Amino acid sequence: MGQGRHFLQIPGPSPVPDRVLRAMDMPVIDHRSAEFAELGRTVLEGAKKIFQTSGPVVIFPSSGTGAWEAAIVNTLSPGDKVLMVETGHFATLWRNMAKRWGIEVDFLPGDWRRGADPGAVEGKLAADTSHAIKAVMIVHNETSTGATSRIGDIRVAMDRVGHPALLMVDTISSLGSVDYRHEEWKVDVSVSCSQKGFMLPPGLGFNAISQKALAASKTNKMPRSYWDWEEMLKPNAKGFFPYTPATNLLYGLREAIAMLLEEGLPNVFARHQRLAAATRAAVNHWGLEVLCQEPKDFSPVLTAVLMPPGYDADEFRKVVLDNFNMSLGSGLSKVAGKVFRIGHLGECNELTLLAALTGVEMGLAVAGVPHRAGGVDAAMKFLEERPKGNAPARLKVVDS
Ligand SMILES: Cc1ncc(COP(=O)(O)O)c(C=O)c1O
Repeated sequence: MGQGRHFLQIPGPSPVPDRVLRAMDMPVIDHRSAEFAELGRTVLEGAKKIFQTSGPVVIFPSSGTGAWEAAIVNTLSPGDKVLMVETGHFATLWRNMAKRWGIEVDFLPGDWRRGADPGAVEGKLAADTSHAIKAVMIVHNETSTGATSRIGDIRVAMDRVGHPALLMVDTISSLGSVDYRHEEWKVDVSVSCSQKGFMLPPGLGFNAISQKALAASKTNKMPRSYWDWEEMLKPNAKGFFPYTPATNLLYGLREAIAMLLEEGLPNVFARHQRLAAATRAAVNHWGLEVLCQEPKDFSPVLTAVLMPPGYDADEFRKVVLDNFNMSLGSGLSKVAGKVFRIGHLGECNELTLLAALTGVEMGLAVAGVPHRAGGVDAAMKFLEERPKGNAPARLKVVDS
């Protein structure tokens, strides 16, 4: 695949830091041993800090889709009504899954260019005076479009109308990259996975669970076995799992949590916002259009870029891959061929980003896509004008 490191600039899986790779490079241990229990307890406690909750977090050996299913089957019953918002491809897939479980979904239509509108959610809930809606299910960061939904505002809207629905949130591509507060926002189930903000390979799915969701799981009528929270929580209390866990991914998780906490979550979130803003500076300079049209919803994790009419995004991505050994994210379903996505999450810093943007800009030139050169300079200028740290950035000139 060419020399040097492949640039994996898709919005997940994100590159795995060397520190995490080294942490996983361990012999597999007995998952019934005291040594494993210590690891289990550490990651189950540590994950709570990343979800910003004091309640239980369960970890499945699964992709994010499995954790979506766990959220549904542990809380809802066939025939239940839920409210979802069409923010993009992933909201649509979660809706499809809910329907397959016999859930009646009121799917607020969207144009794939913004996050969920808290006002529209409030209107639907206010009209539901009989409280037929059992859950509001939102994708926090819509990875297909690069738009983030304001979950705190949605919680405020739900409280304002006093609606008792559960709030379930897909944090699959936001957790560990975008500020997310499971407890403060009274989210009932937060769904996530390992291969995005946690900077791990794919293979772990997460549910952070509120007491209200736990209570719902005691009476709901959905059949389940593998995904059953109760089966998981019992052995978790001592650091164990009900079946063979993904031991080496848990070693990686322990390291990834340590890295996020060492940097400090507020710094992690600020870094992502800064890199995203620098990316938009480049895209705007190129004269291309960012898919997300609502500045409040711009994603800190990825930027989806619209190709000029007549130019195919997938052919462009191939030019970039063939020439510069960099993978960009493809457009999914409705926007296939129309957008490419630049991931700037996880193990990403100023120089990684600038190299990625350089690859995009050179790709535009090689592919003959109309654009204004100098987007990378615009991103550099953005970053230069906002130096990090408390020390004065400008050097004093001293007489020699
Ligand atoms: C927002 C969102 N939800 C759900 C999924 C599905 O997760 P997985 O592919 O791990 O099953 C993804 C995957 O990219 C995603 O970005």
